[in-house]
Amino acid sequence: MYYQKLDEFQKNFLWGAASAAYQIEGAYQEDGKGLSIWDEYAHQPGNTFKGTTGDVAIDHYHRVEEDVALMAKMGLKAYRFSVAWSRVIPDGEGDVNEAGLAFYRKLITLLKQNQIEPVLTIYHWDLPLALQKKYNGWGSREIIPAFEKYCRTLFSAFKDDVKYWVTFNEQNVFTSMGYRWAQHPPKVTDIKRMYAANHIINLANATAINLFHELVPNGQIGPSFGYGPVYPLTGDPNDVLAAVNANDFNNNWWLDVYCRGEYPYFMLKQLQKAGIAPEITADDQVLLKSAKPDFLGINYYHGGTVQTNRLQKPVKEAEQKDFSATDPYLMQPKADQAQSPEVPMFNSVSNPYLDKTAWGWEIDPVGFRVALRQVYEKYRLPLFVTENGLGAVDELVDGKVDDQYRIDYLAQHVKTMKEAITDGVEMIGYCAWSFSDILSWLNGYKKRYGFVYVNRDDDSQKDLKRIPKASYYWYQQLIAQNGAQI
Ligand code: NOJ
Repeated sequence: MYYQKLDEFQKNFLWGAASAAYQIEGAYQEDGKGLSIWDEYAHQPGNTFKGTTGDVAIDHYHRVEEDVALMAKMGLKAYRFSVAWSRVIPDGEGDVNEAGLAFYRKLITLLKQNQIEPVLTIYHWDLPLALQKKYNGWGSREIIPAFEKYCRTLFSAFKDDVKYWVTFNEQNVFTSMGYRWAQHPPKVTDIKRMYAANHIINLANATAINLFHELVPNGQIGPSFGYGPVYPLTGDPNDVLAAVNANDFNNNWWLDVYCRGEYPYFMLKQLQKAGIAPEITADDQVLLKSAKPDFLGINYYHGGTVQTNRLQKPVKEAEQKDFSATDPYLMQPKADQAQSPEVPMFNSVSNPYLDKTAWGWEIDPVGFRVALRQVYEKYRLPLFVTENGLGAVDELVDGKVDDQYRIDYLAQHVKTMKEAITDGVEMIGYCAWSFSDILSWLNGYKKRYGFVYVNRDDDSQKDLKRIPKASYYWYQQLIAQNGAQI
């Protein structure tokens, strides 16, 4: 009985695609926009591949009509985008820049005219630089009123037109990359500060959700989390225990707070013992408990495989090298961060059953079904896949891009998502990452994700022409048939 198939994609399933402001907009100083931490970071030599910046990106800011027309032609049912906080409030907390709001109003209007559901991400990593300088960014609670004001501005402006809202995109990734691995701004390697910033962001997330429920009672809001299931390398109970540990450190630490309003018990004890736990007041606990998301956004790329650290000491040099800047989803404690209690608890290893992408990311469609099942079983919130996709080097040959590898990748994932749905997981929609090629934060334009090729490379903007890839037409058909052929 258990494996009887339930219904497949509902009629109003939101087939979508996603993007983020910094990765596509460009116009980084236009119409009153303030600078973000990414504007500063990417301009500092050595921080990004070939020094690429989002100054122009794919110039979506000036080509929004053309881009939405391509979405409409594809038949997209939803488009997920993010708002650049410093475009709307240039210094993060002061006057609202009407021209900035007008850009997003134009985008939303165009989407709605084409029956495309807008899915608005409030924060996709581009913190206003002024707030980093004034408050030390997410390092201080003083930033929360600024975030609340920014949310209030967006809620008031778009409450009638936007139903689905994402608070924070991949808090787990941007805090680890920014405060632990020093590969994103603010370029810090300090685990204590990473956990402190996470707690402040959790408070900001809860504040935003409560405000939303007051101001936009008919809308739906939730965070988007970069989820990966954790596998033990073998059936050795020690490896199984390592996987339980890794799951706490990589998933539960965030999801339990979002969905249950409390930190996972064992891990909190570990952090307290190591002296790196965040400071959690009684008021904080009340706030976290009071805010419940309406759905959970899941970004799925891959999970991780771990084994027990038999030597009870830091990972070997060779394994460390595997931890590449380009894979923020790898579950790998680092040897020189011995103050982390994770180091003796698990080691990340390659999964012998899985192939990898050109960037060494595991390809694991079954893990997608596992992920959706695990999260839904545990938290029982509707799920919205807010990202899933393949980064690859795409070649433009005779004016065409034949990205059959992307079609294969997406088809496998859509199939396992469908299986999760027929298992009983409640799903709102699926946004592939990404609609068009975008600036890959650290990897420039070499690593491409889009359905639409953008004619530019790292060194030259060329003509920025949009060219639908083979995967564009494949997804167009998939949407038209509501996933029936998968
Ligand atoms: C998740 C992030 O949200 C997105 O901005 C990024 O480009 C993709 N992962 C791929 O790394």
